[in-house]
Amino acid sequence: MAIRLVALLLVCLALSASAQTDPVELLLAQMTLEEKAGQLTQLGTVDTVTGPVIDQGSLTHPPMQTVGSVLGIYGAERTRQLQQSVVEGSRLHIPLLFAFDVIHGFRTLFPVPLAEAAAWDPDLSQRTAHAAAMEASASGLHWTFAPMLDITRDPRWGRVVEGAGEDPFLGSALAVARVRGTHGDGPPNTSFMLSTAKHFVAYGAAEGGRDYNSADLSQRTLQEVYLPPFQAAVEAGADAVMPGFEELAGVPMHSNAPLLKGLLRGQWRFTGIIVSDWMGVHELIPHGVAASPADATRKALNAGVEIDMVSQSYSRNLPDLVRNGQVSLTTVDEAVRHILRAKQRLGLFENPYRYSDPARERAQTLTPQTRALAREAAQKSIVLLKNSGALLPLPKDLHTLLVVGSLATDAQATLGAWALAGNANDSVTILEGIQRTVSPATQVTYIPGASPTSLDTQGIAAAQQAAQKADVVVAVLGETADMSGEAASRADLGLPGAQDALVQTLLETGKPVVIILMNGRPLSLSNSAQQATAILESWFLGSEMGQGVADVLFGDVNPSGKLPITFARSVGQVPIYYGYRNSGRPATGQNPYESTYLDLPSTPAYAFGFGLSYTTFAYSAPQLSTERLASTQSLNVRVTVTNTGQRAGDEIVQLYLRDDVASVARPVRRLRGFRKVHLAPGEARIVEFTLGPEDFALLDDDLLPVVEAGTFTLFVGGSSTTDNQATFEVTDSRRLHALGPAIPRQLRR
Ligand code: NOJ
Repeated sequence: MAIRLVALLLVCLALSASAQTDPVELLLAQMTLEEKAGQLTQLGTVDTVTGPVIDQGSLTHPPMQTVGSVLGIYGAERTRQLQQSVVEGSRLHIPLLFAFDVIHGFRTLFPVPLAEAAAWDPDLSQRTAHAAAMEASASGLHWTFAPMLDITRDPRWGRVVEGAGEDPFLGSALAVARVRGTHGDGPPNTSFMLSTAKHFVAYGAAEGGRDYNSADLSQRTLQEVYLPPFQAAVEAGADAVMPGFEELAGVPMHSNAPLLKGLLRGQWRFTGIIVSDWMGVHELIPHGVAASPADATRKALNAGVEIDMVSQSYSRNLPDLVRNGQVSLTTVDEAVRHILRAKQRLGLFENPYRYSDPARERAQTLTPQTRALAREAAQKSIVLLKNSGALLPLPKDLHTLLVVGSLATDAQATLGAWALAGNANDSVTILEGIQRTVSPATQVTYIPGASPTSLDTQGIAAAQQAAQKADVVVAVLGETADMSGEAASRADLGLPGAQDALVQTLLETGKPVVIILMNGRPLSLSNSAQQATAILESWFLGSEMGQGVADVLFGDVNPSGKLPITFARSVGQVPIYYGYRNSGRPATGQNPYESTYLDLPSTPAYAFGFGLSYTTFAYSAPQLSTERLASTQSLNVRVTVTNTGQRAGDEIVQLYLRDDVASVARPVRRLRGFRKVHLAPGEARIVEFTLGPEDFALLDDDLLPVVEAGTFTLFVGGSSTTDNQATFEVTDSRRLHALGPAIPRQLRR
């Protein structure tokens, strides 16, 4: 007993000694309530407004010197000056954090996240996130609001462009990659940036695909589909989490204590920062759960939202709320600790200016290395959707090539949404990429013909005439950059403007037509547009878009991307996704009383995981290490993949699992593994996967994790529709204490 007491005393002494020397605790002990509220306030700048602000004048409350972080200010010189005014002008000299939306690059733009997800390449995503962090941190920034981890099954939702698509497994893999990339080699390196997992959670389930709208889904879907990428990011060390704007089953995420405190802080032991979204605290008022800014402050902070982005509700209301006992000092102190710890981790207490180095900024912005990486990422993100008669790749020495579509020269569109520090002048357009790549003798004609932003069809006749004389027509069609992203939902998924009319006219000429799609969401092409000879899904690929597209179009690179999201035939099919449940009456086409439409097939236009290549791949049947295993064991799966065509190529080998009979209805397939292999013509390679209890697990009817005895079917192939399968049996049932870990096995360290 006495020994225990002495030990306890020693621990207490050690703790209090460390509190006396710990700069965070020392600061905290000196701070006034107003200074604490300041640390929990993030100001936005007028030039980065991404939503309403209360009024312009309010941007100066509280005085900048006492604020904890700012959003939207960058540049080594600019950040240094502001840092200096804060450090020197404030009582406690606490440095500022500079935050920014570095979503898919900074000055060098990489493919938009949905596009890059099509590369199914965590290593690539880690490298682009790291390059983005290098560039952004060289510009004085400490903190990015990325990665965006919202799963969505609704392409109408404009923010589909910012995430990794519809699948929690792929989404989790890329979440981990992006957090790791943002961290780089970690502190004290000044390329280390704080990451933010956003928007917690189910923001992508907005009803009707309308941004900011309500979401309402089952606990099962929340846990199995929407939460895993966040859990994976937290396991990978994400530094901050941002709640979504939406209200989830009636509880706004900015006041959602069960998820923020119960799950995130409690079960997942998240110790980083919880930062509101833009005005998210104030928006508790229109949500109808707070009566005033003070009430919104009380609700948000008590629910776990620690930093108030832009609304200044905390700075105005928090001190009084603490004084009258509506928010506890302990809650405030813990929140302040989190932001001060982040500053400590970044080394800002030793040197507040360490990220603001103009020489580094000059050396590390838009370098040949970042451009080369942007080109590689662009090449790998392209998905070949159709290639009739092996029209592609085009020969470089075509006699005449007609390029149509206003997007072919739209440099801004190459950057996509969230390119706030990007400069369209840095970008290679598709027309430029083609011109650089074809032979000097090839005559490239460009006629816009039609644009996504206008219904004007007058330009189509000229395009038609030119098409008559061309060997091949390349039609660059899709959306402008601002047709996806925040507040950019669309009710129609077709080609906007007069583009469909243009492509119809071109097809009538009988000339081969290649459609190059530029878009931030899965589009639903009209039946006529789908008659094009070849279709390349090229999304928004960033600074090197035109070059990356030309590399694939003319065969210097063999396309290898696979869709990270299902492409519906029509908006009427939405939501449509590969991991659906079978229903009691699945569509077999043999009976009218099935789960189908009268006017459309129930299958998608292009399935999740689908993408063609200029070569072909054959798969052996999956070989299993055993056909019967206990619930504690793991299963080894091997498949031989052979390049059966004439060109070298990359294949993304995908493994899906189906629990044949369970206590609850299970998805028909769930992705549980993927690998990219490079194969020379004729080359064969064995690809291996390991599956374990977390792959077999499900939530039972009490939502408790369990592995259930019974048979499973696994599928291995080049798309979610593969029927290359094998079955095995788990011989006993077993309760698990969790579904996770959420980091996919292939990325665990
Ligand atoms: C609103 C967006 O929802 C969020 O993703 C972003 O990080 C903030 N604005 C800051 O720009």
